[in-house]
Amino acid sequence: MQKEFYLTEKLPPYIFAAMYKLKTEAAAKGVEIIDFGMGTPDSPPPQFVMDRLAELSRDPKLFGYSVTGGIDVLKKAICEYYARRFNVELDYNSEALVTIGAKEGIASLASAISSPENYMIVPSPAYPIHTFAFTLSKSNIIHLPAISGADFLREFKKYIEAVEEKPLAVIVSYPCNPTTEIVGLDFYEELVAFCIKHKIYIISDIAYCELYFNEADKPHSILEVKGAKDIAIEFSSVSKSYSMAGCRVGFAVGNPTLVGALYKIKSYLDYGSFNPLQMVAVDALSEKSDEYLAGLRQKYKARGEFLVELLDKELGWKIEKPKASMFLWTKLPKQFAHLTSFEFCQKMIAETGVVMSPGSSFGANGEGFARFSLIRDEDDMKKAVAALKKVF
Ligand SMILES: Cc1ncc(COP(=O)(O)O)c(C=O)c1O
Repeated sequence: MQKEFYLTEKLPPYIFAAMYKLKTEAAAKGVEIIDFGMGTPDSPPPQFVMDRLAELSRDPKLFGYSVTGGIDVLKKAICEYYARRFNVELDYNSEALVTIGAKEGIASLASAISSPENYMIVPSPAYPIHTFAFTLSKSNIIHLPAISGADFLREFKKYIEAVEEKPLAVIVSYPCNPTTEIVGLDFYEELVAFCIKHKIYIISDIAYCELYFNEADKPHSILEVKGAKDIAIEFSSVSKSYSMAGCRVGFAVGNPTLVGALYKIKSYLDYGSFNPLQMVAVDALSEKSDEYLAGLRQKYKARGEFLVELLDKELGWKIEKPKASMFLWTKLPKQFAHLTSFEFCQKMIAETGVVMSPGSSFGANGEGFARFSLIRDEDDMKKAVAALKKVF
């Protein structure tokens, strides 16, 4: 019998599965694990979300299948959120869709639009599904370097102007995981104008759009740009903004052709997330969350600053403070620069119990970097830095 298959051969082990193995091995040897690996929020969601979910979960009528593309009340709430937050008007019927998290939405869109004849432009480094959505759908991918938004835009324009056959789509995501880079509206204006000219669809992912640390850095939606709806679809979710990652409720908005293509694929694959989870997402996306969001931003900002200062003071490890997201992204410290980022993270887990994500897991241009998720409190950060000090 065949033991290897086309995709299972082509796909590397998913990074968090590989890290899990390393953590388990270290823990079995008695090393205390302090985990800054996966970006899973450690804060509780808003209290009103938990209260309403408890109430709704007692209603047996809500346990049936939901509907492909989400319940109307949530699609309307997504449109209201876009109007309030970005001043963008959307038609809930044709320009908004609920997904099972942004990750599923991007993967389903990739299977809807990919063909062996077309190709996609994906930044490197990037959140892994931005690449692997297209690997899974057996499309072709060209990676372009993207340490900053400006770098990426320059490389992208240079590449597109030089090739005859244009890609079907490009994917962008700011605030960026893993680099924490942000972009202004001018970035989207330039990108949209260029992609309209060359007939390239844009897929934007703004999963971290509510996690910014200064008003001046407040992230934009690509749909704020006039004409963007002609070529752009945008994904986000309740995972990071409202610490509801386990709820698996995300959304896609924008270009009706892309939203329609996504709907078609999803109608074969799923019946939507559990109804009560979609219903509480309506509350999460409302103004009721304003105070919660302000608190969460403050928490990530304070943690980022605290860890940056501590790493510098105790280890001489200098990292720039992030302007947004829930991560620190940093070059490997000088004394470990001879290691690959995976070897560095492996060594740190085995010898100190401190878990970071290797930059290479976000693409070839992430090599030489590591990422901390800001999902531990100050006491754990102090413990982690003390443990790292022993091997630094
Ligand atoms: C850029 C980006 N988009 C999407 C996601 C996943 O979001 P969701 O939980 O909605 O699938 C992540 C998770 O880390 C992410 O970093």
